[in-house]
Amino acid sequence: MNNVTAEKFQEIQSGELGWWTHANFNPQIEWKFYLDVFESHLRPFKRVVDIGCGPVPIFMNPKIEASEVTAVDPLWEEYLKLDKYTQWHTRPVDHHYADVDQAPSHQFDGVFFLNALDHVRCPKETLDGVQRILTCDGLLFLFVDIDKSIDYLHPHRLTQSWLMMELAGMETLVVKNNQSWKHKNRVVYYVGRKIT
Ligand SMILES: C[S@@+](CC[C@H](N)C(=O)[O-])C[C@H]1O[C@@H](n2cnc3c(N)ncnc32)[C@H](O)[C@@H]1O
Repeated sequence: MNNVTAEKFQEIQSGELGWWTHANFNPQIEWKFYLDVFESHLRPFKRVVDIGCGPVPIFMNPKIEASEVTAVDPLWEEYLKLDKYTQWHTRPVDHHYADVDQAPSHQFDGVFFLNALDHVRCPKETLDGVQRILTCDGLLFLFVDIDKSIDYLHPHRLTQSWLMMELAGMETLVVKNNQSWKHKNRVVYYVGRKIT
């Protein structure tokens, strides 16, 4: 897995911000695709984090019950300036971090990481960090584009076998390999429980 240089990542992120600035995005539609698979594994959480949350973290959906919510995204402060997304901000965000590296270990019993792993600079390090911040028995909800061609916003081509190898320390509750609802590539839905 090749990591992306800091310069290249800056370029990608400015493309990402441009995309969200102009996107015609309805989170209700996106959430449905995620929650159709994940909903049966939801429970009332103490602390939920959405990593790579974009401008509308999934915990803004009322189906996700949590006492405390954290947003992790390097563009979070920029997204807050985009007025068109504030209508979807139905609860205050308790904490935010630019990167999972800054989040405390063993704190979150619900971790969402949706459609972001192929956007980060260092997928392996980020996925390690995601597992580090889970409490024992905490749940990871992951959605990843796989087998997708690299393009200017997606600098990594990920595979299901790589993903499963990286998550080998978790107890797998769901792995579902589907056709993407938007593109021609495949996607993986994963729910895992941290066991150590
Ligand atoms: C395609 S968006 C996904 C947004 C949302 N999760 C969704 O499913 O609609 C990918 C997000 O990953 C973010 N990102 C990139 N590198 C990241 C990192 N190291 N940690 C957290 N988020 C990151 C980008 O800024 C972008 O907002």
